Amino acid sequence: MSIQTVIMAAGQGTRMRSSTPKVLHPILGKPMLWYSLRAARTISNDLPVVVIGHQSEHVRQAVAGQARFAVQEQQLGTAHAVEQTRALLEGEAEIVLVTSADMPLISAETLRSLAEAQQAHAGPMTILVTVSESPRGFGRVVRDEQGFVRAIVEEADATPEELAIRLLNVGVYAFDAAWLWEALPRVPLSPKGEYYITALVHLAVQDGLDVQALTLTDPDETIGVNTRVHLAEAAAAMQHRINTRWMLAGVTLLDPATTYIEPEVTIGQDTVVWPNTHLRGETTIGRECELGPNTYVLDTTIGDRCKVFSSVLEHALLEDEVDIGPFGHLRKGAHLAQGVHMGNFGEVKNSYLGPGSKMGHFSYLGDATLGANVNVGAGTITCNYDGVHKNPTSIGDNAFIGSDTMLVAPLTLGENARTGAGAVVTKNVPPNSLAVGMPARVIKKFEKS
Ligand code: UD1
Ligand code: CA
Repeated sequence: MSIQTVIMAAGQGTRMRSSTPKVLHPILGKPMLWYSLRAARTISNDLPVVVIGHQSEHVRQAVAGQARFAVQEQQLGTAHAVEQTRALLEGEAEIVLVTSADMPLISAETLRSLAEAQQAHAGPMTILVTVSESPRGFGRVVRDEQGFVRAIVEEADATPEELAIRLLNVGVYAFDAAWLWEALPRVPLSPKGEYYITALVHLAVQDGLDVQALTLTDPDETIGVNTRVHLAEAAAAMQHRINTRWMLAGVTLLDPATTYIEPEVTIGQDTVVWPNTHLRGETTIGRECELGPNTYVLDTTIGDRCKVFSSVLEHALLEDEVDIGPFGHLRKGAHLAQGVHMGNFGEVKNSYLGPGSKMGHFSYLGDATLGANVNVGAGTITCNYDGVHKNPTSIGDNAFIGSDTMLVAPLTLGENARTGAGAVVTKNVPPNSLAVGMPARVIKKFEKS
């Protein structure tokens, strides 16, 4: 079956009261529209067509490469929105599936079921419906005595009897493509002066054709975002969905309600996540790690059996058995090799710490390369910035940096080099040597070990 997908996203979203277009408001770090695109992309080989209008350039840039676009200059209604895709899609597929960017919880499985239901159906369209006691402004699905769908009536246009209907239009539709392109120009203007996609139901019935309804049972999927209250509901539902998936995959979340895992994160089995932990962006976490509480991880790769306690990790790389925190901060380009220990109040930026190196307390390493088993004493600072350049520091294997050492870069300390407490090191320290004082001078050379 050949399918083309359309995502309506041209509306302003007035009720959001925002200068950001509604469909770009983020849910777990991704614009709302990203979720509709992801679902749509799994059911068609062709990129979805997004109908854009309000702040169209902004929307186009936010999802460039993930979609094709049709511009709706004036937002004259949902049928008019679909009409704008005709030039791209007419004659391209047997089925056209239409969804809305403000329904981010609609799953790929639901879109697939809807397309399959329409494929198996003789009539021109299948609509997704739900039964709910809280109609939230959704269109009411009117049926006849035999249960056949007759019309969708918008809340604003409904009679009191129609308002009492609890069968609701979710706003996702699968159409026989040929019928859709023929019928769209016949959609009449609504009393509000718009062309409603929902009017197609009535047109099909007038054509003597049967409209099929597919019932959605998961109420979370039907969350539509029209206000920021709905946005919070949608975000909570998405959080719940993602967290459930990881728990079922073997990850322990001690408090799912305060665990925020963005959709592209991956987590290995038997990892435990403590409360108030945010796993963001393209973060990858290995097996048997312990993360949190109070931890923020962005675009970071973490190996197996790592521990990260009350820390912030951004654009960093941790090999296996790394232990960080509390109150560590890894910044862009921090790479901690196997078995590194980084204790309280450490900051590492654009630096490599070799296997087994330790940095226990109150240190800053920037633009530094440390070998294996280096001991970084409490309060050690790389003075890497002279106001103009970022200068490198290199420290050899097994070096021992005394507490409160200032390493004035550019600087090289050899293997087994040592510095005394409070040293201000301005010159390179040869291997197997001890430097002390301010500025530090070499006072001792060790036997080669
Ligand atoms: C719509 C349905 C309603 C359904 C509800 C479910 C219509 C007329 N009504 O109402 O039956 O219960 O969704 O969520 O379709 N859009 C455009 N161009 C336009 C108008 C809208 O692209 O000219 C887009 C919007 O950006 C939005 C989507 O279409 O993504 C739906 O529009 P919205 O105004 O939110 O419709 P609802 O009032 O929610
Ligand atoms: Ca809506």
